[in-house]
Amino acid sequence: MILKNISIINFRNYKKLDLDLNDKINIIYGQNGQGKTNILESIYVLALTKSHRSFIDNNLIKNGEESAIIKGKLKKDISYNLEILLGKTKKQVKIDNSVESKLSTYIDKMNVIIFSSEDLELIKGSPGERRKYINLELSQLSANYYNALNDFEKLLKIRNETLKKINNLEEVDLNYFNILTEYLVNKSVFIYQMRNKYIQKLNDICPKIFKEISGLEGFNIKYKPSIDISSFEKENIKKILEETLRENFEKEVSAKMTIYGPHRDDFEFCKGNDSLRDFGSQGQQKMAVLALKLSEIEIFSDYKKTSPIILLDDVFSDLDSLKKNNLLKHINKNMQVIITTTDLDSIDKKLLKKAKLIHIKNGEVLQEEVKK
Ligand SMILES: Nc1ncnc2c1ncn2[C@@H]1O[C@H](COP(=O)(O)OP(=O)(O)O)[C@@H](O)[C@H]1O
Ligand SMILES: [Mg+2]
Repeated sequence: MILKNISIINFRNYKKLDLDLNDKINIIYGQNGQGKTNILESIYVLALTKSHRSFIDNNLIKNGEESAIIKGKLKKDISYNLEILLGKTKKQVKIDNSVESKLSTYIDKMNVIIFSSEDLELIKGSPGERRKYINLELSQLSANYYNALNDFEKLLKIRNETLKKINNLEEVDLNYFNILTEYLVNKSVFIYQMRNKYIQKLNDICPKIFKEISGLEGFNIKYKPSIDISSFEKENIKKILEETLRENFEKEVSAKMTIYGPHRDDFEFCKGNDSLRDFGSQGQQKMAVLALKLSEIEIFSDYKKTSPIILLDDVFSDLDSLKKNNLLKHINKNMQVIITTTDLDSIDKKLLKKAKLIHIKNGEVLQEEVKK
């Protein structure tokens, strides 16, 4: 798929920007703090309705403004005009100028994979970072996952409120509580299964790529749910989660929240049995996330029958030539790639020749001839 152009209004440090993009390689360059990452972020938000680097949507709106708009023309088998409006209190998406109320339908249209320095947080950061990541990836791949996750989150909120009431000795209908729990369990089962499948798929591809980049064997990703799941068959997960919740009812009442479930999942990046967070060097950790992202390109291309749009945020200056070449090898010739850099010299000359160059200064595109 190809993003033909993007136009943004009042997003981050941009008042207004209209940008036509090359079908293959685009390089956005300029000094630090000028707005390079903001452009990639706007493309990410256009695709996923959420940012990869901010949990708070209001940060995306230009300071002092009320709302931001991002529009883009996406070309796949047919073309789509996608649009997202980010208001202080509301978010609205449109496909071909008509409002789409189902976010899952919208998110399904455009797929992006971003490589950035924040990726390292996947290894070093909290379990919440890893869950956010897998949720975003699976939501792009499966509308059913996105919907199940949304339902789960709503149910979880209500169940937690109900647990609080029980703790405060307010009158609570326990039948109602049990039905809530049953609904929550059913949604959880699906989420567990999808996450397990996705991690298995990653484990089919990741170790090979990790070896190519690092020369090291034994890379794997371990799924660590908060309950001990012996096998991922539907009935089995259901039974285990039901039992766990039953046995821990009092504990959850005094904690005033649901302690067991997919919202407490974690994943671990390992070499053999050793966690790369605890035992891996910074270099190995970087290679692990690179391998992860490269595997995703394969999974997405395979599953969606068209390649995702690749966003590379300032990653070249940080990689040695072996990793650069590996990265480029995996980015198929037909994929659209949008790269940011402060330093054009860090970019392969052949790549530079083919690329559209976009010079950014203080939230504006500078028009100039560049010698390649
Ligand atoms: N909501 C906002 N409103 C206005 N400016 C913002 C907002 N969020 C970030 N910025 C500005 O965007 C700039 C950083 O842009 P960024 O794309 O991260 O830079 P870089 O070119 O280094 O990638 C900073 O100058 C920052 O002050
Ligand atoms: Mg940046």
